[in-house]
Amino acid sequence: MSKRLIVGNWKMNPGTLAEAKKIASKTKRIASSLSKTEVVICPPMSFVTACIPRNKVSNFSVGAQTVSFETEGAHTGEVTGNMLKDIGVSMVIVGHSEQRTAGDTDEIVSKRLLATLSSSLTAILCVGENSRDEGGEYLETLKNQIKNSLANIPKDLVGKIIIAYEPVWAIGGSEPMNPEQIYEMSLFVKKIFAEVFGADSGLKVKVLYGGSVNFRNASDIITIGKVDGLLVGRESVNTPGFVELIRSVDKIS
Ligand code: PGA
Repeated sequence: MSKRLIVGNWKMNPGTLAEAKKIASKTKRIASSLSKTEVVICPPMSFVTACIPRNKVSNFSVGAQTVSFETEGAHTGEVTGNMLKDIGVSMVIVGHSEQRTAGDTDEIVSKRLLATLSSSLTAILCVGENSRDEGGEYLETLKNQIKNSLANIPKDLVGKIIIAYEPVWAIGGSEPMNPEQIYEMSLFVKKIFAEVFGADSGLKVKVLYGGSVNFRNASDIITIGKVDGLLVGRESVNTPGFVELIRSVDKIS
């Protein structure tokens, strides 16, 4: 069985480089002692380099929260996938709902996804409905979002895509989606992935859950929700909670 994946999305936290280094080094230390879990931290761009270990650390790597879909040229404020790869970044979060709210359409998301994969980086493609309706229309919306975000991705690159299912209404709240529903939704996501890239890819794709994950609920989400890992926001910069979360997941058989 492949290792479970815990990705910490630090968002625009913490406020200083000193704090960032502290959180990274504590997380790295815990990760190196794990047997069944891999941990990726995604700090703000300004702290990424400082968080990348000089020497390889087992079960630990550093990701970025976004990437440009351009590969070169005059694009003020942007960073290419190759630049990220060059400094030792392992993964990129693409299509996070906060980026979608800030203007990323499905088309832009699919371009960022392609740029990430073309730079031989793993992509964590975030998808999720904004809200739910009794008639189940959100499933259609989600299906379209997934298909459009995956548009124009060549089949030989799909092995490096991980999907993070994050119902937007559960992000930053006090309660995650219940684990039984998470299981159903992860199957739904895999089914859509299979419709786009074939049954084999649908079986292989890793699906993470994100939205109000903390050290108290992480283990149930993995065991009952049967997801391959977690995308963790707030709790990933709260070191005691994150350490406990990681340990609780690593204990699962
Ligand atoms: P949260 O954020 O864990 O704070 O809900 C998750 C995310 O936005 O990826």
